[in-house]
Amino acid sequence: MIPVKDKEGIVRMREACAKAATVLESLKPLVRPGITTMDLEEAGRAEIARLGARSACYGYQHGSRRYPAHTCISVNEEVVHGIPSFKRILREGDIVSLDIVIEYNGYIGDNAFTVPVLPVSPKVQNLLRVTREALALGISSALVGNRVGDISHAIQAFVEAHGYGVVRDMVGHGVGVSMHEPPEIPNFGKRSTGERIRPGMTFAIEPMVNLGGYATRTLSDGWTVVSADGSPSAHFEHTVLTSEKGPEILTIPGNVPAKAA
Ligand code: MF3
Ligand code: CO
Repeated sequence: MIPVKDKEGIVRMREACAKAATVLESLKPLVRPGITTMDLEEAGRAEIARLGARSACYGYQHGSRRYPAHTCISVNEEVVHGIPSFKRILREGDIVSLDIVIEYNGYIGDNAFTVPVLPVSPKVQNLLRVTREALALGISSALVGNRVGDISHAIQAFVEAHGYGVVRDMVGHGVGVSMHEPPEIPNFGKRSTGERIRPGMTFAIEPMVNLGGYATRTLSDGWTVVSADGSPSAHFEHTVLTSEKGPEILTIPGNVPAKAA
């Protein structure tokens, strides 16, 4: 059963998601040669605190491990869940996937994008463009009356038409009072399958796309997921609200309605 948010839940989702987007956006101008992924972590942690929010990643439990940072920062062949490090210095030609999940007032906003450390090769620029457009197509398919598989199919068809690998080991997901709620939203699948989309659902839609094959593996740190063939990987993610008026992207900075007087 996919949770449906009531009015109050939607207001709180808007606030949490706007803050998640504000944090993510604040990191973009810091991405340049010579800084470390730990510099980005420290800036993210400070911005989350400034907004009165909490990182949903810090201490997140997976098996017996707890995630040790406030941000996920994945460079080049790292797909997701890269752990920030003092040792990882960014260089021209790198791509940096920033993934920010925050909790505010009991609700969670989840968003990510991949930033190039310019200049990057035309091939890698195209990977970023295709992944960003795949997200847009997935969002456009999150229509009331459609099924979850319609989102999955739209993403897969577009990405594979460009010859890239759609990661299958990690999936998008419902998000709300928990980081991961039903449904799972794979980035591959069949049209007209899965649960029916109804108004008031909140989805984290997040294509992860490899320049090479779709296979991944996890490093011995227990978190960092990398492409199995070492090819660069991109990740774009928004939290989206479904409604009769069409999908609404919630992870936009400042997307908070004025409080009623
Ligand atoms: N957006 C990631 C996810 O949905 C964030 C996970 S936080 C971590 O899985 F702690 F697992 F890294
Ligand atoms: Co997510």
